Amino acid sequence: MPPGYASRGMADDLRTLRFALRTSARAVLERNHRHGRTAAGVEFSYTRPDNEKYPDQFYWDSCLIALTWRHLDPVRAREELRTLAAAMEPSGRIGHTIFWSGPVRLSRLPAYNVARRRAPATATIQPPLLGWAWAEVANASPDDPGFREEGRELVRRHMDWLDQARAEADGLIGILQPDETGLDATPTYDAALGWRAHPYPGFAHLVHENRRRGFDYRRARAEGGFTAVDPLVNTGWALSWSGLARLGDPDGAARAAAVVAALEARLWDPEREMFFAEGPDGARIPISTWAGLAPLALPELSAPIAARLIDAQLLDRSRFWLPWPVPSTSAEEPTFRPGDVGWPIRRYWRGPTWPFTWWFVHRGLRVHGREDAARELALRTARLIDREGMREYYNPLTGQGLGGTNFAVTAVALDLVITSAD
Ligand code: GLC
Repeated sequence: MPPGYASRGMADDLRTLRFALRTSARAVLERNHRHGRTAAGVEFSYTRPDNEKYPDQFYWDSCLIALTWRHLDPVRAREELRTLAAAMEPSGRIGHTIFWSGPVRLSRLPAYNVARRRAPATATIQPPLLGWAWAEVANASPDDPGFREEGRELVRRHMDWLDQARAEADGLIGILQPDETGLDATPTYDAALGWRAHPYPGFAHLVHENRRRGFDYRRARAEGGFTAVDPLVNTGWALSWSGLARLGDPDGAARAAAVVAALEARLWDPEREMFFAEGPDGARIPISTWAGLAPLALPELSAPIAARLIDAQLLDRSRFWLPWPVPSTSAEEPTFRPGDVGWPIRRYWRGPTWPFTWWFVHRGLRVHGREDAARELALRTARLIDREGMREYYNPLTGQGLGGTNFAVTAVALDLVITSAD
């Protein structure tokens, strides 16, 4: 990374792009927003990731969408999170996908992670960012002081469920399926899953097995089913403990610190200088994907590890610092494909740049004192959107926009340009 590239010209450019981004972010969020009431009378107000492809509420999409709404309309940001919390089961579980407009279609049922045909949500999780998002939105909500307290109680219930259902002895939480990471067909789990990898027909078998076990992590582990401990999911877990601390939970800060310490002890590979997931056999899986960079978003991460992650991985132009960062898989991985792969169903997260990555990595650069690179990332994402529109994902080499065309999460670029410009 050449020093000094964050010139004055770049800052000016960021300001101009920020102005345009405010308009396009608001447009896509308004376009995808839905407000209504279920047959049972529960009111919902959430933003679809994409009207055509993803009409339901998706857990981690909603968290990043709320972070974006808070810059534009904090009322909507609060509604987004309150709607997600309204989907919480009495146990404290919140599904990966919530079907506010009716149950999943029969044709999609075999590969859908629902416990029963008419379930209102999946029985699987996504990176648990709710606590973090709630704290950020609470900060933007001086007009609704009750929101903070409400979150302290609701988020804690959700975190307690994750703890009881998913946490291992060291405090890290595990997953039952690759899509619980949010990174559906990530190459990380290719070898562990084989013919059951997402979205091959065998994936339905994995879902079937989990359904038979009541989507019970401890049972899957005891019976030798697929399970893993993933750095991205645990980054969300740690962030949400910090968020809870900011909401006033007395355990939050210590729990966040313990999760970060466990992440470093268990998933950091000091030789390869990268975080890797741990597979069902208890061994780390040395495949470099952006999930290994996600822990950068944690300020508690020790400074030497953060520095190596940034310099040896993120800013390496042959790995992650491609023309349009951050690719979902390192360009050095043999599985890396910068464009679309898979037919008739695409295999996601095997190379293209997804906007979800921007938020984690940008925050990581900022909290670890690399504002120059953070600004550069903000600038590139804003330019990309200016050129290609709010696409679902992009080719990291050419910038070509791919997938959905009005993708709400992509608007999170506004958060990058706002936080980098102040
Ligand atoms: C894809 C992504 C997942 C996301 C969903 C909705 O399935 O892999 O992470 O939540 O789309 O955007």
